Amino acid sequence: MGFLTTTTTEHKYSPGLEGVIAAISGISAIDGEEGKLIYRGIPIEVLAKNSTFEETAYLLLFSDLPTQDELENFKMDLVEHRELPENLLDLLNSLPRDSHPMEVLRTSVSFLGHFCPDKDKDSRGANIRKALRIIAKIPGIIAAWARIREGKNVIPHNPDLPHAANFLYMLHGERRPEDEEKIFDVCLILHADHGMNASTFAAMVTASTLSDIYSAIVSAIGTLKGPLHGGANERVLYMLDEIGSVDRAEEYVLDALAHHRKIMGFGHRVYKSYDPRARILKEYAKSLSEKNNDMRYFEIGDKIEEVMIREVGKKGIFPNVDFYSGIVYHFLGIPRDLFTPIFAMARVVGWSAHVLEYLQANRIFRPRAIYSGPIDREYIPIEKRSG
Ligand SMILES: CC(C)(COP(=O)(O)OP(=O)(O)OC[C@H]1O[C@@H](n2cnc3c(N)ncnc32)[C@H](O)[C@@H]1OP(=O)(O)O)[C@@H](O)C(=O)NCCC(=O)NCCS
Repeated sequence: MGFLTTTTTEHKYSPGLEGVIAAISGISAIDGEEGKLIYRGIPIEVLAKNSTFEETAYLLLFSDLPTQDELENFKMDLVEHRELPENLLDLLNSLPRDSHPMEVLRTSVSFLGHFCPDKDKDSRGANIRKALRIIAKIPGIIAAWARIREGKNVIPHNPDLPHAANFLYMLHGERRPEDEEKIFDVCLILHADHGMNASTFAAMVTASTLSDIYSAIVSAIGTLKGPLHGGANERVLYMLDEIGSVDRAEEYVLDALAHHRKIMGFGHRVYKSYDPRARILKEYAKSLSEKNNDMRYFEIGDKIEEVMIREVGKKGIFPNVDFYSGIVYHFLGIPRDLFTPIFAMARVVGWSAHVLEYLQANRIFRPRAIYSGPIDREYIPIEKRSG
């Protein structure tokens, strides 16, 4: 057999694993040509219009829409696990104030793993309980950090508020208007899962070694942090600021394309048409801009979209979920560096669902690489090496 040094019909190389089928999953699916996304068979637009984050989370985790009782119990479970332990708050207080919230989230989830009552259990029931604890606590971690770093008091959760509204409440110290709470809830639905993306795959690789769910979620958070994945939404707003006004947008885009610089919030490995989530978020970005009498970001964004579709739409490059989410979050009063943690706050449901599903028929992920180094190389004793 020998060393694997070249691709063969049996051993094809696909950079970035593009097109490689790594699992069978019944959780969500993307039709990249038509721009469609379904969770457990239900179109994302239908869930955005009719569901709530909690109901959608239940659907993703447990395959079916919950009955009224199942939903109430699920919501109660999440509320019960929201509170952050004192030692975690102490840890947050000890971190450098300039730590990026994604780093803080990664450290916090890892820290919580030490104290999980199901730490040494790996049954499906224990894994579900661990996942629910993490899902329930992530909003509190993000909100607490946002306040601690500014020297403000940490706001305890309000058990009467749902997941999305409670996060905004803990972040701001007061409730946001109901329409904004609803928009934020839909944002969480839109981000809750997305097939075999990089962070989900990272979580699954970790879980496939029969490591624990805390470790899997830590891997996923670290993976989501990068600008080619979850980190793009934060950068979109910086780009809009850099452009400054709508009349400069076209020139900016053309210059970026001419110099092979990527426009953040555009392009996708699977979608080669308009991302259906971006369509929904664009509507919210517009309505919130109108409500606030501040159309600047929206108009620049809209112009960028027009020029991008004209110039590179034929290559299948369209706005993705990150392009308009930043404008929405801006009007919800959310600081920019919390955009990616908010992505994590929603996507932790998808990560958990995929890990739980994969573990039911687990096989360790272990791909191979084509070896491109030397063979039969001479070992030169250190005293005889030059240079
Ligand atoms: C998402 C992303 C990583 C997908 O990457 P990919 O499938 O590996 O595609 P590539 O990066 O190889 O891009 C393929 C072609 O489209 C171009 N392209 C892709 N995204 C682009 C963007 N945002 N702006 C400008 N050109 C882009 C590439 O330059 C490349 O062009 P070429 O074939 O002429 O060299 C990529 O589109 C990207 O970096 N987007 C910006 C970051 C972002 O918004 N990420 C969030 C994803 S939800």
